[in-house]
Amino acid sequence: MPSENTQTSRDGKLLVLTPGLGAVATTFIAGVESMRQGLTKPIGSLTQMQTIRLGMRSEGRNPLIKDFVDLAPLSDIEFGGWDVFEDNAYEAAKRAEVLNNEDLEPVADRLKTVEPMPAVFNQDYVKRLDGPNVKEETNKMELAEALRDDIRRRMKETGASRAVMIWCGSTEVYQHPTDCHQSIEAFEEGLRNNDESIAPSQIYAYAAIKEGVPYANGAPNLSADFPALEELAVENGVPIAGKDFKTGQTLMKTMLAPGFKTRMLGVEGWFSTNILGNRDGEILDDPESFKTKEVSKKGVLDTILQPDLYPDLYDDLYHKVRINYYPPRGDEKEGWDNIDIKGWMGYPMQIKVDFLCRDSILAAPIVLDLALFLDLAKRSDRKGIQEWLSFYFKSPQIVEGHIQEHDIFIQHFRLKNTLRVLGGEEPLTHLSENFDGNY
Ligand SMILES: NC(=O)c1ccc[n+]([C@@H]2O[C@H](COP(=O)([O-])OP(=O)(O)OC[C@H]3O[C@@H](n4cnc5c(N)ncnc54)[C@H](O)[C@@H]3O)[C@@H](O)[C@H]2O)c1
Repeated sequence: MPSENTQTSRDGKLLVLTPGLGAVATTFIAGVESMRQGLTKPIGSLTQMQTIRLGMRSEGRNPLIKDFVDLAPLSDIEFGGWDVFEDNAYEAAKRAEVLNNEDLEPVADRLKTVEPMPAVFNQDYVKRLDGPNVKEETNKMELAEALRDDIRRRMKETGASRAVMIWCGSTEVYQHPTDCHQSIEAFEEGLRNNDESIAPSQIYAYAAIKEGVPYANGAPNLSADFPALEELAVENGVPIAGKDFKTGQTLMKTMLAPGFKTRMLGVEGWFSTNILGNRDGEILDDPESFKTKEVSKKGVLDTILQPDLYPDLYDDLYHKVRINYYPPRGDEKEGWDNIDIKGWMGYPMQIKVDFLCRDSILAAPIVLDLALFLDLAKRSDRKGIQEWLSFYFKSPQIVEGHIQEHDIFIQHFRLKNTLRVLGGEEPLTHLSENFDGNY
């Protein structure tokens, strides 16, 4: 059945679907509901809090992003999700132990209405997870059809006119694309034949794109970032983005590394280690899931520091990333970075970062922003990979032949210029306002 989700106006509600109703998804839902009730502020969200400068500084035009582009308001958001556990969003949020009771109780009634739909799940892809709420179909194409039915049903139940899907499920094992990932025909053939290289998250992504629903991948596994689904997204006019929410340590890294480079300071070593005790940490304790995360985290420094252009500064950089599962910490991760830098005449210096962060608190506003921006992109007729959303990801999905950008300031600049263009304004160059031809 062809996609019905082709609406370009903002009329009606927006359904935000999350495969995975764990720590991140429930913190996102609880936060949106709490903000709707006026109990908390949307801290960390660009769509809700950031302004955008238009024209010259002297014009003083600095509207909020949400007032400048036509974003869905929080009051229009509805929720839906899938999980291998039967807990509703309230029970799952309690179990995740991210939010205190005093923040959860006022939104409990709303959270209880979000019951997980049975998941498409296969333990081969997430070794340390097993749960009862799983679809019974055994054929992957039938599973995709069942997810498409779920999307339509949940839209009807909530009265939504549009939907977006953000993968908030566990990190699946590391995977290289195979033949079946190379074209839509091969992928659909693979679904029909139960090709073992098609992971559950890919079935969700396929179902979303077929339904005309924008899709973003918050985890580092292969999900919509291969030719078959990239092609399908363009063909169906669906924006997609990924992957792996940029929170915690990588957020810090992509803030600090551009600073060293702008001052031409060398970096000889960057050792990053983490302890975390939530379910995500337990899953990443499995070497195959960790490998997926490691690849996503490690690409960052090379593209920011450009050792090929600056061999004297970065050629010998030793970069190591560890994640250790340590239950007592729960969601309150601690990430340490030891950075060995060098300055004038090669003299060494050290920087130590100890970030006592809350993973889901950093990830939840990303889910909100991605949902609203992807919905905007869809209504603005943008399709395929949305590179301007790289800002939110550890391993930005890019069009083949393009180069990933990890520098958070360049990513931010691009995101805002894209918004300016979407809103019918000129992009900014940051050249002097009084530019008279002399730089
Ligand atoms: N929190 C962060 O800062 C952050 C940053 C980057 C990426 N991520 C990624 O986001 C994802 C969610 O993180 P989290 O902390 O909420 O983890 P979590 O373990 O609390 O939640 C994930 C949920 O997904 C469910 N799930 C797994 N496979 C599924 C499937 N096939 N279908 C439906 N549900 C499925 C699990 O049962 C679990 O409830 C993880 O992959 C994590 O690596 C999180």
